[in-house]
Amino acid sequence: MPIMKSRWAAPTLQLANRMKSKPLPRKTKKHAADKRSKRKVINQIVENDLIRRVSFEEYRDRVRHVYDGPQGAILATCSLLSLHLTFGERLIRERKFDVGGARQILDVGSGAGQIAKHLLKYADPGARLTCFDLSLPMVRRGRNRLKNGLPDHLVADVTRLPFDDGTFDCVTCGYVIEHLPDARLGLAELARVMQRGGRLLLLTSEDTFGGAWTSRFWCCRTYNRRELREICHSLGLVWKEELWFTRMHKALRAGGICVEIVRT
Ligand SMILES: C[S@@+](CC[C@H](N)C(=O)[O-])C[C@H]1O[C@@H](n2cnc3c(N)ncnc32)[C@H](O)[C@@H]1O
Repeated sequence: MPIMKSRWAAPTLQLANRMKSKPLPRKTKKHAADKRSKRKVINQIVENDLIRRVSFEEYRDRVRHVYDGPQGAILATCSLLSLHLTFGERLIRERKFDVGGARQILDVGSGAGQIAKHLLKYADPGARLTCFDLSLPMVRRGRNRLKNGLPDHLVADVTRLPFDDGTFDCVTCGYVIEHLPDARLGLAELARVMQRGGRLLLLTSEDTFGGAWTSRFWCCRTYNRRELREICHSLGLVWKEELWFTRMHKALRAGGICVEIVRT
């Protein structure tokens, strides 16, 4: 039997096509822009502003103090509750960020060893892992939690790394650069210690309401995705792929910025 075409189909299609090609009316565009700038202002009000008010040295002492103390002690539990541990492991287990073949891996601002734990599980057996953190108690906590004698652990600041140029072919940096007044301070150092063609998994807080709210607890800032990409490019760190923990995170722009970067 021939399929009967609905007499509504053609006009509806025409209307849909017309709507698709029609530019948004000026009023609607202005309304959307107003909404965006209002949201930006609210986020700026909510976001922790200590980083903008004091010198970097003073701010860094404050950050160290935060992680040395009780907040640092509950960091691993927070990561567990926020599902950062589960989703982070999935990224590496499913090779969305592939650590296979890496020989020299650096985990920046290891904290309680949340990412290092996945690296130990999924990297090649011969790979060498180096973990560092600004806070000595955090380094101890990470080492105790990993219960593995293989990684090297040290206290260091991402803006002044004690490694030679081109040492690492793989770097992971989870939620650390939001503790810098300018991302260039840390990213330039990472670019220096990375080999050409080396890969970096970078996670950081985004300038969304969720990001601003989280910054209050962890005494950090947030980044605008486009601006951060431009900074990375200027340092030879090219964004290969933006990653998301889940489709829901992508739809809601939640979970922050997560990106695979190649050192060119
Ligand atoms: C939110 S935790 C992230 C821990 C882990 N990387 C993760 O993905 O869950 C941030 C860590 O960065 C460290 N940190 C902050 N500023 C740093 C700096 N300038 N250099 C090195 N580590 C830093 C803190 O001490 C803390 O352990």
